[in-house]
Amino acid sequence: MKQQKWNSDNVPDQKDRVAIVTGSNTGIGYETARVLANKKATVIIAVRNLEKGNVAANQIRAGHENVDVKVMALDLANLESVNDFAADFKINYTRLDLLINNAGVMFPPYSKTADGFEIQLGTNHLGHFALTRHLLDLLMSTEDSRIVNLSSTAQKWGNINFKDLHWEKRKYKTRQAYYDSKIANIYFTYELARKLNENNHRTLVVASHPGWTSTELQRHSGFLNFMNNFFGQDMTMGALPTLYAAVESDVKSADYYGPSGFMEFRGYPKKVESNELSHNEEIAQRLWDISEEVTKIKYDL
Ligand SMILES: NC(=O)c1ccc[n+]([C@@H]2O[C@H](COP(=O)([O-])OP(=O)(O)OC[C@H]3O[C@@H](n4cnc5c(N)ncnc54)[C@H](OP(=O)(O)O)[C@@H]3O)[C@@H](O)[C@H]2O)c1
Repeated sequence: MKQQKWNSDNVPDQKDRVAIVTGSNTGIGYETARVLANKKATVIIAVRNLEKGNVAANQIRAGHENVDVKVMALDLANLESVNDFAADFKINYTRLDLLINNAGVMFPPYSKTADGFEIQLGTNHLGHFALTRHLLDLLMSTEDSRIVNLSSTAQKWGNINFKDLHWEKRKYKTRQAYYDSKIANIYFTYELARKLNENNHRTLVVASHPGWTSTELQRHSGFLNFMNNFFGQDMTMGALPTLYAAVESDVKSADYYGPSGFMEFRGYPKKVESNELSHNEEIAQRLWDISEEVTKIKYDL
Protein backbone atom coordinates (compact mmCIF):
# COMPACT_ATOMS: atom_id res chain seq x y z
CA MET A 1 0.00 0.00 0.00
CA LYS A 2 1.15 3.49 -0.78
CA GLN A 3 0.40 5.02 2.62
CA GLN A 4 -1.48 4.46 5.86
CA LYS A 5 -4.11 7.18 5.57
CA TRP A 6 -4.77 7.25 1.85
CA ASN A 7 -7.76 9.49 1.09
CA SER A 8 -9.50 11.20 -1.81
CA ASP A 9 -6.89 14.00 -1.90
CA ASN A 10 -4.49 11.32 -3.12
CA VAL A 11 -6.55 10.57 -6.24
CA PRO A 12 -4.41 11.74 -9.15
CA ASP A 13 -5.65 14.02 -11.90
CA GLN A 14 -8.20 12.17 -14.06
CA LYS A 15 -8.29 14.63 -16.96
CA ASP A 16 -9.26 13.06 -20.30
CA ARG A 17 -10.40 9.89 -18.55
CA VAL A 18 -13.97 8.57 -18.78
CA ALA A 19 -15.63 6.72 -15.89
CA ILE A 20 -18.99 4.99 -15.50
CA VAL A 21 -20.24 4.58 -11.93
CA THR A 22 -23.39 2.47 -11.61
CA GLY A 23 -25.89 3.45 -8.90
CA SER A 24 -24.21 6.80 -8.34
CA ASN A 25 -27.24 8.93 -7.42
CA THR A 26 -26.59 8.15 -3.75
CA GLY A 27 -24.26 6.44 -1.26
CA ILE A 28 -20.83 5.12 -2.14
CA GLY A 29 -21.45 5.44 -5.87
CA TYR A 30 -22.32 9.12 -5.50
CA GLU A 31 -19.18 9.81 -3.49
CA THR A 32 -17.02 7.86 -5.96
CA ALA A 33 -18.52 9.84 -8.87
CA ARG A 34 -18.11 13.14 -7.00
CA VAL A 35 -14.42 12.59 -6.27
CA LEU A 36 -13.60 11.39 -9.81
CA ALA A 37 -15.48 14.35 -11.33
CA ASN A 38 -13.68 16.82 -9.06
CA LYS A 39 -10.42 15.26 -10.25
CA LYS A 40 -11.51 16.16 -13.81
CA ALA A 41 -12.73 12.81 -15.09
CA THR A 42 -15.80 12.72 -17.33
CA VAL A 43 -18.21 10.76 -15.15
CA ILE A 44 -21.35 8.95 -16.24
CA ILE A 45 -23.91 8.76 -13.46
CA ALA A 46 -25.61 5.49 -14.49
CA VAL A 47 -28.94 5.27 -12.69
CA ARG A 48 -32.33 3.62 -12.82
CA ASN A 49 -34.11 6.84 -11.80
CA LEU A 50 -33.14 9.82 -13.98
CA GLU A 51 -34.73 12.34 -11.64
CA LYS A 52 -32.54 11.17 -8.74
CA GLY A 53 -29.57 11.05 -11.11
CA ASN A 54 -30.07 14.68 -12.14
CA VAL A 55 -30.32 15.83 -8.52
CA ALA A 56 -27.03 14.05 -7.79
CA ALA A 57 -25.34 15.46 -10.90
CA ASN A 58 -26.43 18.99 -9.95
CA GLN A 59 -25.07 18.52 -6.44
CA ILE A 60 -21.71 17.47 -7.87
CA ARG A 61 -21.73 20.43 -10.26
CA ALA A 62 -22.65 22.94 -7.53
CA GLY A 63 -19.73 25.10 -6.60
CA HIS A 64 -17.34 23.38 -9.00
CA GLU A 65 -16.76 24.86 -12.39
CA ASN A 66 -15.89 22.59 -15.29
CA VAL A 67 -16.93 19.28 -13.74
CA ASP A 68 -18.14 16.98 -16.48
CA VAL A 69 -20.93 14.69 -15.28
CA LYS A 70 -23.61 13.12 -17.46
CA VAL A 71 -26.66 11.20 -16.34
CA MET A 72 -27.68 8.08 -18.25
CA ALA A 73 -30.46 5.55 -17.67
CA LEU A 74 -29.40 2.09 -16.55
CA ASP A 75 -31.61 -0.47 -14.84
CA LEU A 76 -29.46 -3.45 -13.93
CA ALA A 77 -32.58 -5.48 -13.21
CA ASN A 78 -33.49 -5.38 -16.90
CA LEU A 79 -31.10 -6.75 -19.54
CA GLU A 80 -32.71 -4.71 -22.30
CA SER A 81 -31.95 -1.53 -20.33
CA VAL A 82 -28.36 -2.74 -19.81
CA ASN A 83 -28.01 -3.33 -23.54
CA ASP A 84 -29.53 0.06 -24.42
CA PHE A 85 -27.28 1.86 -21.93
CA ALA A 86 -24.14 0.27 -23.40
CA ALA A 87 -25.24 0.94 -26.99
CA ASP A 88 -25.97 4.57 -26.16
CA PHE A 89 -22.65 4.95 -24.34
CA LYS A 90 -20.71 3.52 -27.30
CA ILE A 91 -22.37 5.98 -29.68
CA ASN A 92 -21.21 8.90 -27.54
CA TYR A 93 -17.80 7.81 -26.24
CA THR A 94 -14.74 6.24 -27.84
CA ARG A 95 -12.93 5.30 -24.63
CA LEU A 96 -13.75 3.90 -21.21
CA ASP A 97 -11.09 4.13 -18.51
CA LEU A 98 -13.07 3.09 -15.44
CA LEU A 99 -16.12 0.91 -15.04
CA ILE A 100 -17.21 0.98 -11.40
CA ASN A 101 -19.82 -1.74 -10.85
CA ASN A 102 -21.20 -0.25 -7.66
CA ALA A 103 -25.02 -0.42 -7.73
CA GLY A 104 -26.65 -2.88 -5.38
CA VAL A 105 -29.68 -3.91 -3.39
CA MET A 106 -29.62 -5.57 0.02
CA PHE A 107 -32.25 -7.66 1.81
CA PRO A 108 -35.35 -6.70 -0.24
CA PRO A 109 -38.44 -8.90 -0.13
CA TYR A 110 -38.55 -11.61 -2.78
CA SER A 111 -38.98 -10.37 -6.32
CA LYS A 112 -37.56 -11.03 -9.74
CA THR A 113 -35.88 -8.89 -12.36
CA ALA A 114 -37.52 -8.27 -15.74
CA ASP A 115 -35.67 -11.36 -17.01
CA GLY A 116 -36.84 -13.61 -14.19
CA PHE A 117 -33.69 -13.58 -12.00
CA GLU A 118 -33.85 -13.40 -8.20
CA ILE A 119 -33.58 -9.65 -7.56
CA GLN A 120 -30.27 -9.53 -5.62
CA LEU A 121 -28.25 -11.91 -7.79
CA GLY A 122 -29.95 -10.37 -10.83
CA THR A 123 -29.06 -6.77 -9.94
CA ASN A 124 -25.80 -7.13 -8.05
CA HIS A 125 -24.16 -9.79 -10.23
CA LEU A 126 -25.98 -10.69 -13.47
CA GLY A 127 -26.76 -7.09 -14.48
CA HIS A 128 -23.11 -6.11 -13.99
CA PHE A 129 -21.93 -9.31 -15.71
CA ALA A 130 -23.92 -8.29 -18.80
CA LEU A 131 -22.93 -4.61 -18.60
CA THR A 132 -19.23 -5.45 -18.35
CA ARG A 133 -19.41 -7.70 -21.42
CA HIS A 134 -21.11 -5.01 -23.48
CA LEU A 135 -18.38 -2.51 -22.55
CA LEU A 136 -15.38 -4.83 -22.52
CA ASP A 137 -14.15 -4.14 -26.06
CA LEU A 138 -14.02 -0.44 -25.29
CA LEU A 139 -12.28 -1.06 -21.97
CA MET A 140 -9.73 -3.34 -23.64
CA SER A 141 -8.96 -0.74 -26.29
CA THR A 142 -8.41 1.97 -23.64
CA GLU A 143 -4.94 2.05 -22.13
CA ASP A 144 -4.73 1.56 -18.33
CA SER A 145 -8.43 0.78 -18.02
CA ARG A 146 -9.93 -0.83 -14.93
CA ILE A 147 -13.09 -2.53 -13.75
CA VAL A 148 -13.94 -2.30 -10.03
CA ASN A 149 -16.62 -4.61 -8.63
CA LEU A 150 -18.19 -3.76 -5.26
CA SER A 151 -18.46 -6.71 -2.93
CA SER A 152 -18.94 -6.85 0.84
CA THR A 153 -17.59 -8.53 3.97
CA ALA A 154 -20.89 -10.45 3.63
CA GLN A 155 -19.23 -12.42 0.82
CA LYS A 156 -17.81 -14.58 3.65
CA TRP A 157 -21.23 -16.17 4.11
CA GLY A 158 -21.95 -16.58 0.41
CA ASN A 159 -22.46 -20.10 -0.89
CA ILE A 160 -24.30 -20.19 -4.20
CA ASN A 161 -26.89 -22.91 -4.69
CA PHE A 162 -26.61 -23.69 -8.40
CA LYS A 163 -29.56 -26.06 -8.28
CA ASP A 164 -31.88 -23.21 -7.37
CA LEU A 165 -30.19 -19.99 -8.45
CA HIS A 166 -33.41 -17.94 -8.37
CA TRP A 167 -34.91 -19.34 -5.16
CA GLU A 168 -37.84 -21.03 -6.87
CA LYS A 169 -37.65 -24.29 -4.89
CA ARG A 170 -36.65 -23.02 -1.42
CA LYS A 171 -38.13 -20.68 1.16
CA TYR A 172 -36.59 -17.30 0.37
CA LYS A 173 -33.84 -16.10 2.70
CA THR A 174 -33.15 -12.54 1.64
CA ARG A 175 -29.93 -12.31 3.70
CA GLN A 176 -28.47 -15.45 2.17
CA ALA A 177 -29.43 -14.23 -1.31
CA TYR A 178 -27.46 -11.00 -0.65
CA TYR A 179 -24.44 -12.91 0.64
CA ASP A 180 -24.55 -15.13 -2.45
CA SER A 181 -24.70 -12.10 -4.75
CA LYS A 182 -21.67 -10.61 -3.00
CA ILE A 183 -19.52 -13.74 -3.30
CA ALA A 184 -20.66 -13.77 -6.95
CA ASN A 185 -19.03 -10.32 -7.33
CA ILE A 186 -15.77 -11.84 -6.11
CA TYR A 187 -15.96 -14.94 -8.34
CA PHE A 188 -16.67 -12.67 -11.29
CA THR A 189 -13.68 -10.45 -10.43
CA TYR A 190 -11.25 -13.36 -10.12
CA GLU A 191 -12.55 -15.25 -13.15
CA LEU A 192 -12.56 -12.23 -15.45
CA ALA A 193 -9.07 -11.29 -14.22
CA ARG A 194 -7.85 -14.84 -15.02
CA LYS A 195 -9.45 -14.83 -18.47
CA LEU A 196 -8.12 -11.39 -19.41
CA ASN A 197 -4.68 -12.31 -18.17
CA GLU A 198 -4.62 -15.62 -20.07
CA ASN A 199 -5.48 -13.72 -23.24
CA ASN A 200 -2.87 -11.00 -22.61
CA HIS A 201 -5.38 -8.21 -22.12
CA ARG A 202 -4.20 -5.43 -19.83
CA THR A 203 -7.48 -4.18 -18.36
CA LEU A 204 -7.33 -4.67 -14.58
CA VAL A 205 -10.26 -6.22 -12.71
CA VAL A 206 -10.36 -5.44 -9.00
CA ALA A 207 -12.83 -5.90 -6.13
CA SER A 208 -13.51 -3.56 -3.23
CA HIS A 209 -15.81 -3.30 -0.25
CA PRO A 210 -16.75 -0.27 1.89
CA GLY A 211 -16.92 -1.92 5.33
CA TRP A 212 -19.99 -0.69 7.12
CA THR A 213 -21.04 2.62 5.59
CA SER A 214 -24.16 4.51 6.50
CA THR A 215 -26.14 4.75 3.22
CA GLU A 216 -29.56 3.94 1.82
CA LEU A 217 -28.46 0.33 1.36
CA GLN A 218 -29.89 -0.52 4.77
CA ARG A 219 -33.34 0.73 3.65
CA HIS A 220 -34.92 -2.74 3.90
CA SER A 221 -33.73 -3.38 7.46
CA GLY A 222 -35.00 -1.13 10.28
CA PHE A 223 -32.45 -2.73 12.62
CA LEU A 224 -29.42 -2.11 10.39
CA ASN A 225 -30.67 1.35 9.61
CA PHE A 226 -30.75 2.12 13.33
CA MET A 227 -27.33 0.51 13.88
CA ASN A 228 -25.90 2.83 11.20
CA ASN A 229 -25.93 5.50 13.92
CA PHE A 230 -23.36 3.54 15.92
CA PHE A 231 -21.32 1.54 13.41
CA GLY A 232 -21.67 3.17 10.01
CA GLN A 233 -18.80 5.26 8.71
CA ASP A 234 -19.67 8.12 6.39
CA MET A 235 -19.61 7.70 2.65
CA THR A 236 -16.46 9.78 2.15
CA MET A 237 -14.64 6.99 4.02
CA GLY A 238 -16.77 4.22 2.52
CA ALA A 239 -15.78 5.19 -1.03
CA LEU A 240 -12.02 5.09 -0.37
CA PRO A 241 -11.36 1.37 -1.04
CA THR A 242 -13.18 1.71 -4.39
CA LEU A 243 -11.28 4.87 -5.28
CA TYR A 244 -7.97 3.28 -4.33
CA ALA A 245 -8.78 0.22 -6.47
CA ALA A 246 -9.74 2.51 -9.35
CA VAL A 247 -6.73 4.81 -9.47
CA GLU A 248 -3.66 3.73 -7.51
CA SER A 249 -0.56 2.58 -9.36
CA ASP A 250 0.28 -0.43 -7.15
CA VAL A 251 -3.11 -2.14 -7.73
CA LYS A 252 -3.01 -5.51 -9.50
CA SER A 253 -5.69 -7.49 -11.22
CA ALA A 254 -7.73 -9.65 -8.80
CA ASP A 255 -6.71 -7.51 -5.81
CA TYR A 256 -9.39 -6.83 -3.21
CA TYR A 257 -9.52 -3.61 -1.13
CA GLY A 258 -11.47 -2.76 2.01
CA PRO A 259 -11.15 -0.66 5.19
CA SER A 260 -8.19 -1.31 7.47
CA GLY A 261 -9.97 -1.09 10.86
CA PHE A 262 -11.43 -3.71 13.21
CA MET A 263 -13.13 -6.47 11.21
CA GLU A 264 -12.78 -4.27 8.12
CA PHE A 265 -15.80 -2.27 9.30
CA ARG A 266 -14.19 1.14 8.92
CA GLY A 267 -10.98 2.97 8.21
CA TYR A 268 -8.58 3.88 5.46
CA PRO A 269 -8.18 1.46 2.56
CA LYS A 270 -5.89 -1.55 2.52
CA LYS A 271 -5.53 -4.75 0.53
CA VAL A 272 -7.77 -7.41 2.11
CA GLU A 273 -8.48 -11.09 1.57
CA SER A 274 -11.71 -12.73 0.48
CA ASN A 275 -12.62 -16.07 2.02
CA GLU A 276 -11.29 -19.46 0.93
CA LEU A 277 -14.45 -20.49 -0.93
CA SER A 278 -14.24 -17.41 -3.14
CA HIS A 279 -10.92 -18.69 -4.51
CA ASN A 280 -12.49 -21.93 -5.78
CA GLU A 281 -11.88 -21.77 -9.54
CA GLU A 282 -14.34 -24.54 -10.31
CA ILE A 283 -17.20 -22.63 -8.69
CA ALA A 284 -16.09 -19.40 -10.39
CA GLN A 285 -16.14 -21.12 -13.79
CA ARG A 286 -19.52 -22.67 -13.03
CA LEU A 287 -20.96 -19.28 -12.12
CA TRP A 288 -19.41 -17.83 -15.26
CA ASP A 289 -21.01 -20.52 -17.45
CA ILE A 290 -24.43 -20.17 -15.86
CA SER A 291 -24.20 -16.35 -16.03
CA GLU A 292 -23.51 -16.58 -19.77
CA GLU A 293 -26.35 -19.05 -20.17
CA VAL A 294 -29.05 -17.11 -18.33
CA THR A 295 -28.08 -13.67 -19.68
CA LYS A 296 -27.56 -15.16 -23.17
CA ILE A 297 -24.35 -13.13 -23.38
CA LYS A 298 -21.05 -14.75 -24.42
CA TYR A 299 -17.72 -13.25 -23.51
CA ASP A 300 -15.62 -15.00 -26.23
CA LEU A 301 -12.29 -13.68 -24.94
N1 LIG B 1 -23.20 0.55 2.73
C1 LIG B 1 -22.54 -0.51 3.17
O1 LIG B 1 -22.29 -0.67 4.39
C2 LIG B 1 -22.09 -1.57 2.22
C3 LIG B 1 -21.42 -2.67 2.76
C4 LIG B 1 -20.95 -3.64 1.89
C5 LIG B 1 -21.13 -3.52 0.54
N2 LIG B 1 -21.79 -2.44 0.04
C6 LIG B 1 -21.98 -2.37 -1.43
O2 LIG B 1 -21.72 -1.06 -1.90
C7 LIG B 1 -22.49 -0.81 -3.07
C8 LIG B 1 -23.17 0.55 -2.97
O3 LIG B 1 -24.09 0.50 -1.90
P1 LIG B 1 -24.52 1.77 -1.05
O4 LIG B 1 -24.23 1.44 0.36
O5 LIG B 1 -23.99 3.01 -1.62
O6 LIG B 1 -26.10 1.67 -1.23
P2 LIG B 1 -27.22 2.72 -1.66
O7 LIG B 1 -26.99 4.01 -0.98
O8 LIG B 1 -28.51 2.03 -1.46
O9 LIG B 1 -26.95 2.89 -3.22
C9 LIG B 1 -27.20 1.82 -4.10
C10 LIG B 1 -27.35 2.37 -5.50
O10 LIG B 1 -27.66 1.27 -6.38
C11 LIG B 1 -28.76 1.69 -7.17
N3 LIG B 1 -29.52 0.57 -7.71
C12 LIG B 1 -30.24 -0.36 -7.04
N4 LIG B 1 -30.86 -1.19 -7.91
C13 LIG B 1 -30.50 -0.77 -9.16
C14 LIG B 1 -30.83 -1.19 -10.45
N5 LIG B 1 -31.67 -2.19 -10.67
N6 LIG B 1 -30.29 -0.55 -11.50
C15 LIG B 1 -29.45 0.50 -11.31
N7 LIG B 1 -29.12 0.96 -10.09
C16 LIG B 1 -29.65 0.34 -9.03
C17 LIG B 1 -29.60 2.55 -6.24
O11 LIG B 1 -30.54 3.31 -6.97
P3 LIG B 1 -31.85 3.92 -6.23
O12 LIG B 1 -31.41 5.09 -5.43
O13 LIG B 1 -32.73 4.30 -7.39
O14 LIG B 1 -32.42 2.84 -5.38
C18 LIG B 1 -28.48 3.39 -5.63
O15 LIG B 1 -28.09 4.39 -6.54
C19 LIG B 1 -23.45 -1.98 -3.21
O16 LIG B 1 -22.96 -2.88 -4.20
C20 LIG B 1 -23.41 -2.66 -1.84
O17 LIG B 1 -23.68 -4.04 -1.90
C21 LIG B 1 -22.27 -1.46 0.84
